[in-house]
Amino acid sequence: MGNCAFRGSPSIYKVFSNAKSESPKEQSPSVKEEKQDQKLPSNPEEVEDLRRDSAANPLVAFTFNELKTITSNFRQDYVLGGGGFGSVYKGFITEDLREGIQPLQVAVKVHDGDNSYQGHREWLAEVIFLGQLSHPNLVKLVGYCCEDEHRVLIYEYMPRGSVESNLFSRVLLPLPWSIRMKIALGAAKGLAFLHDATKPVIYRDFKTSNILLDEEYNAKLSDFGLAKDGPVGDESHVSTRIMGTYGYAAPEYIMTGHLTARSDVYSFGVVLLELLTGRKSLDKSRPVREQTLTDWALPMLTQKKKLHGIVDPRLNGDYPIKGVHKAAMLAYHCLNRNPKARPLMRDIVDSLEPLQLSLETLEVDQNQQL
Ligand SMILES: Nc1ncnc2c1ncn2[C@@H]1O[C@H](COP(=O)(O)OP(=O)(O)O)[C@@H](O)[C@H]1O
Ligand SMILES: [Mg+2]
Repeated sequence: MGNCAFRGSPSIYKVFSNAKSESPKEQSPSVKEEKQDQKLPSNPEEVEDLRRDSAANPLVAFTFNELKTITSNFRQDYVLGGGGFGSVYKGFITEDLREGIQPLQVAVKVHDGDNSYQGHREWLAEVIFLGQLSHPNLVKLVGYCCEDEHRVLIYEYMPRGSVESNLFSRVLLPLPWSIRMKIALGAAKGLAFLHDATKPVIYRDFKTSNILLDEEYNAKLSDFGLAKDGPVGDESHVSTRIMGTYGYAAPEYIMTGHLTARSDVYSFGVVLLELLTGRKSLDKSRPVREQTLTDWALPMLTQKKKLHGIVDPRLNGDYPIKGVHKAAMLAYHCLNRNPKARPLMRDIVDSLEPLQLSLETLEVDQNQQL
């Protein structure tokens, strides 16, 4: 496929040719944006020119040589993760790197490989979005590198890695229910902040591998490569390219290309289900009927008696019954096939707030039966 772009695995990429916009006004800018001849910046001056109107956060323009120093020449054993467009390395900015830059542990995301237009565009989307947004539940962008063919992003280091690597790890202890609810709330606050911003942003790739954790399990959204300025009100974008990740993307977005903030809400519902069940959104190793988490779990979410059968068995029953029930109902509403019937992220934050547990509540609740 000529201009095919994949994000992670498995990902969605589909050329959508007959999408009809609900709003002709919205269609033209969005389609224009998909054009391949759009000029992308090729040096830090051009990046800063582009950022001028929106650059709330100062970003450091690193040289590629500085990044070699920071990552000890991109050492293989410093690799933290990888995905669609390259590898992420752990790094350390030392005091003597450059005057004025504070020592800091960082993560360095290198867009390597094919140098595709899509790769460069995703790199730029992160510089623009994370360069203007600042919130405790969004990962902090420290700087970038735009030198020759190199396109690199430098973030604050998140010591506990992704929610995916914690939730599905075979070596780490299972995440307790209280931590799962803390993660859900943090991530919900991050999305609510994006949706309610003066210029709303649709995140478009909400999934466990894009939620990172600090030492205290505070959740922060990272990977803004697919983020998009949101349409105003109830209008929707119509994408010519449907991008996101199978298992997480909202059905109406996959089928029609209509993208709204409610598509993020659907993906949030999938992540909430993953936290509840300890199962991956798509798992080819399971029996066919259980491979797609939403298909398998949805009918049981509203039935109190069946609910205990889908809660993560690794929790060993250590969870508050009422809390599990409420989280299940919340996931159920987020996964409504009708986008307009899904709750808003700010309402989801309000629903998750009372599900946050102190250790004492957890102990009392454990004595109850589901
Ligand atoms: N700031 C960070 N701190 C720690 N690990 C990170 C950081 N950023 C990314 N990673 C790791 O690298 C993986 C891929 O990063 P991501 O930004 O999602 O890139 P991709 O575009 O390849 O999906 C993440 O799932 C995580 O494991
Ligand atoms: Mg990612």
